Amino acid sequence: MILVTGGAGFIGSNFVLNWLAQSAEPVLNLDKLTYAGNLGNLAALKDDARHVFVRGDIGDGAVLTRLLNEHQPRAIVHFAAESHVDRSIHGPAEFIQTNVVGTFALLEATRAYWSALSENAQKAFRFLHVSTDEVYGSLGADDPAFSETTPYAPNSPYSASKASSDHLVRAYHHTYGLPVLTTNCSNNYGPRQFPEKLIPLMIVNALAGKPLPVYGDGQNVRDWLYVGDHCAAIRAVLEKGISGEVYNIGGNAEMKNLDVVHTLCNVLSTLRPGRDYASQITFVKDRPGHDRRYAINADKIRRDIGWQPVETFESGLTQTVRWYLDNESWLTNITSKAYQQWIDLQYARP
Ligand code: NAD
Ligand code: TYD
Repeated sequence: MILVTGGAGFIGSNFVLNWLAQSAEPVLNLDKLTYAGNLGNLAALKDDARHVFVRGDIGDGAVLTRLLNEHQPRAIVHFAAESHVDRSIHGPAEFIQTNVVGTFALLEATRAYWSALSENAQKAFRFLHVSTDEVYGSLGADDPAFSETTPYAPNSPYSASKASSDHLVRAYHHTYGLPVLTTNCSNNYGPRQFPEKLIPLMIVNALAGKPLPVYGDGQNVRDWLYVGDHCAAIRAVLEKGISGEVYNIGGNAEMKNLDVVHTLCNVLSTLRPGRDYASQITFVKDRPGHDRRYAINADKIRRDIGWQPVETFESGLTQTVRWYLDNESWLTNITSKAYQQWIDLQYARP
């Protein structure tokens, strides 16, 4: 079996669902169920014996050691993290705790488990660390896209904590020989994303007739990848990636935030007509230290692994909006008091 951490979150739950749709191999899913983790994401698996869910913290060495020895996974896919830049600005401590200290605890438990495996099992084992393009910092308008050799220059507490975890993963390979893979991916969107990130927040606000809050001048650029394409890339890297290597993953879909929001308004006008969604766009105070541009050079994964995205931004966005329209009860369940408290804190008038 494989061990997945953070498999109740946005990308993790999509990964677990896609994995079990395509493979008979069971998944052990370790997730702390923070505000971002939601067992409702995995409701389709409630009678599926191939999915074993354990509520626990990646920072808890005793739990990790017990799970590894009991279930003997052949690979670990590590998603668990605090993942929202704005939250990291308001409260960085949890990011250091989970992303840095938690990843360290996971690496230590993995090293002990892996060291005791047979030589063949050691060779076949993989620790796949899921990271972000944000570790590379911010690009100017004409700079070349991030490649795997771009120097790290993280600018937010979130990206600094992810950069730290990437370095630890690298060191465990270099020093102990742990067979690791690291993927650095651009911005994901798709079903089951918590509505604090740009796209689901805009969908929820648009449908509720609320302002669509664009930070600063709306000209910041991100590369967007449909979550199903990211999951396929991770499966391909797990299968074909070379131990110790890093793979950048991107969607060939660089866009300015304002264009993303306008495209979203157009998709909504088609799927749920009756309102002038674009008239709800409002410019709000910029994010402190807001990175201007991210862009991914995904040549290596295309060349060496044979992966490339299937969805365009328009096709992925249409599927995403359709999912949110069809899953209102999912939204009602997660738009709880904790969600409202976050929205009040982040979008309060100065
Ligand atoms: P998410 O915030 O939706 O989910 C994170 C999950 O991790 C949640 O289920 C949460 O309960 C769990 N978790 C948090 N702390 C934990 C802990 N200490 N122990 C166990 N579980 C814990 O995040 P996401 O958007 O699905 O991102 C998943 C991973 O992918 C992260 O490592 C993130 O850095 C990376 N990533 C995300 C994006 C993106 O656009 N969302 C892009 C590139 C990389
Ligand atoms: P986000 O989804 O938080 O991802 P990240 O910061 O990791 O790239 O934000 C994507 C972009 O959208 C980023 O440039 C910030 C911007 N943004 C807004 O303009 N308004 C919002 O309400 C949010 C949440 C983000």
